[in-house]
Amino acid sequence: MSTQSEDWMDLYSKEPEAEQEFVIPEGPLLFYNELVIDHFTNPRNVGEMDDADGYALIGDPSCGDQMKLWIKVREGRIADIKFKSFGCPGAIATSSMATVLAMGRPIAEARLLTDDDVITALEGIPEHKRHCSLMGVGALLAAIRDYEGRCQPEGTTADIAAKKHDIS
Ligand code: FES
Repeated sequence: MSTQSEDWMDLYSKEPEAEQEFVIPEGPLLFYNELVIDHFTNPRNVGEMDDADGYALIGDPSCGDQMKLWIKVREGRIADIKFKSFGCPGAIATSSMATVLAMGRPIAEARLLTDDDVITALEGIPEHKRHCSLMGVGALLAAIRDYEGRCQPEGTTADIAAKKHDIS
């Protein structure tokens, strides 16, 4: 009996047979490599976090995919990271890899991760699915911004200036 992962592997890694009658779209076909299929079928760091230090919900308006991502930060590093995705195989696999790459990194390094880093770590992704890799990286950066916003001392520079001059 095949596993769910093997079923997906079978579906996404086979080349179409020459005599198939369906119309093959122009451009590269969806030949996902084994690593991408593994991250799609067994995504890492899936879940939610109650006590997150940073959170983001982002979406891709062009396809409707959405993603939520939570981070916990300890001593300036990403100590834990979780995500949930309503997305395509490319979005799920690349988001999974983005969390793997971010886990344990100092915030200053994690914010430099790019979609190319994710794609390289996954050993490639079909060309017209590259945009999917922006979901995980975009959510990570938004969660870092949220974390940094929460770390700001109370009151903005303008608030502090207003208090100093007794203006409200
Ligand atoms: Fe929307 Fe992949 S098709 S993120």
